[in-house]
Amino acid sequence: MSFPITRNRRLRTSAALRSIVRETRLTAHDLIYPIFVTEGSGVREEIVSMPGVYHLSIDLLEAEIREVAELGIQAVLLFGVPDHKDEVGSEAYGNNSIVQRATRKIKEWQPDLLVVADTCLCQFTSHGHCGIVRQDESTGRADVDNDASLALLVKTAVSQAQAGADIIAPSNMMDGFVQAIRTGLDDAGFEHVPIMSYSVKYASAFYGPFRDAAHSAPQFGDRKTYQMDPANVREALREAESDVVEGADMLMVKPALAYMDVIRLLKEQFDLPVVAYNVSAEYSMVKAAARQGWLDEKAIVLETLLGMKRAGADIIITYFAKDAARWLQER
Ligand code: PBG
Repeated sequence: MSFPITRNRRLRTSAALRSIVRETRLTAHDLIYPIFVTEGSGVREEIVSMPGVYHLSIDLLEAEIREVAELGIQAVLLFGVPDHKDEVGSEAYGNNSIVQRATRKIKEWQPDLLVVADTCLCQFTSHGHCGIVRQDESTGRADVDNDASLALLVKTAVSQAQAGADIIAPSNMMDGFVQAIRTGLDDAGFEHVPIMSYSVKYASAFYGPFRDAAHSAPQFGDRKTYQMDPANVREALREAESDVVEGADMLMVKPALAYMDVIRLLKEQFDLPVVAYNVSAEYSMVKAAARQGWLDEKAIVLETLLGMKRAGADIIITYFAKDAARWLQER
């Protein structure tokens, strides 16, 4: 008897064989492209720490939207960069605020493209926290007021749905936000609008470039009383479980790269679609190294996104979406 009998290399002998046994495939349909919309006109300003990502004013958005749709990407995630911030984040829920106006325009230009609205206050509050801030009289400590913040998040979600958002994506990590928003949407007649919950969102250093981009860094303290401790995974199950009970339609894990185990766990434990957020620093690290000529950007990006799918992500939010869609077309 010759040895070895089992030869795993047999299925790798040609491109066609490798393709026919391939377990995971990445397509442009898996991707959501985040866009930063800003006030003013004629604004197309590159974000320094995120080369290739721009602040765009609404008048320059149309070309971007057409490009995204032509590449076969089915959804964009909108972040608003307002002119004006205040203590209660008023610009998050105004009917004529930046995200609401951009949403209406996009649905006019490209009705089939899904608009996902990020529902949070941090880009709109002067203190940069994701909810209203209250100071505890006895301890003097300032923290977000969970329940008071919920009302404003509901207002934000309803105004986004009124503007035509197809999916509401609350990223604020207040307790009870899914239930509050679900009830608010239903009461306003938007019972058909799904909630993509940022269920498992860690207090991560990987959001750094985004905070530059969205001007949303907290002005004091940090987000550790509402975002999760990177050390915990059983707690991730509790976060996801409560969102499922409260009516979430999709569960997100954020960031993605350092949390592949969490993506896999949610995929195994729940039957809802799992979304991975390939966040800003995951983008910037690759860009920076690629600029140095230290790695093959295209190969690295496609391998990374494929890895997220293999870990269990059904959908990936990524600043690489347009590049990846282009590279996948070339193949
Ligand atoms: C808003 C929000 C953040 C990100 C998405 N929505 C920042 C934060 O929580 O500080 C980060 C996205 C990224 O880093 O790409 N709460």
